[in-house]
Amino acid sequence: MLHAHQLAKSFADAPLFAGVDLSVASGEVVAVLGESGMGKSTLLNALAGLEPLEGGRVVVGSTDVTALDEAACARWRRTQLGFVFQAFHVLPHLNVAQNVALPLLLANRLDPPRVNEVLAQVGLQGLGERMPRTLSGGQLQRVAIARALVHTPPLVLADEPTGNLDPTTGAAIIDLLLGQARAHGAAVVLVTHSVAAARRADRTLRLTPTGLVPEPVAAGG
Ligand SMILES: Nc1ncnc2c1ncn2[C@@H]1O[C@H](COP(=O)(O)OP(=O)(O)OP(=O)(O)O)[C@@H](O)[C@H]1O
Ligand SMILES: [Mg+2]
Repeated sequence: MLHAHQLAKSFADAPLFAGVDLSVASGEVVAVLGESGMGKSTLLNALAGLEPLEGGRVVVGSTDVTALDEAACARWRRTQLGFVFQAFHVLPHLNVAQNVALPLLLANRLDPPRVNEVLAQVGLQGLGERMPRTLSGGQLQRVAIARALVHTPPLVLADEPTGNLDPTTGAAIIDLLLGQARAHGAAVVLVTHSVAAARRADRTLRLTPTGLVPEPVAAGG
């Protein structure tokens, strides 16, 4: 589903990473670990076509994302991608339900029952009318997750989606991401600092300056 080949990125001539290869199958959840500042968010943005690369190619399904111009890439993202931003990017002037409904609105298929269903899945049932400023950090994070999943995209890129959640809520969110993979065949890339979350993934990789390397994560716990 997702094939990234030899991705390389620098900022102001300072190399961040190079030699990044990543393949994720439909129905597979891959966790990416790495120290703060290693470039995990930059990598996810690059996979989404939101960040230019110095080198490499990103192919999703039959689409060469790196070859799309900005408008075509935006159209591709609308239908094919669910992205959970590390900083949420919930729109402050829309209520919770409107934020979650955005991908459906952009696809011309508004579906209020579906919005309520995903809100319930992230534990925000009944909060659809609330404005984002009245929510906690963990609730905002779950709005961002609901918005990324509402249109059941074939590719889900999630940047620290449990970073602001208590362990129980975090585990429920990981269940939901696994469910997207298992039930809907989504390819899921999960950036996380949580070993508990990484353990639940099918594979775990670590981002290093010279590429993604397999990371053994002890089972159990
Ligand atoms: N637009 C930019 N211009 C210059 N440097 C940037 C830019 N965006 C990110 N960086 C730098 O690139 C490095 C990687 O940032 P990134 O956000 O990808 O790290 P990360 O692995 O996601 O870290 P964290 O775990 O803290 O979220 C950092 O040193 C950051 O300062
Ligand atoms: Mg980050």
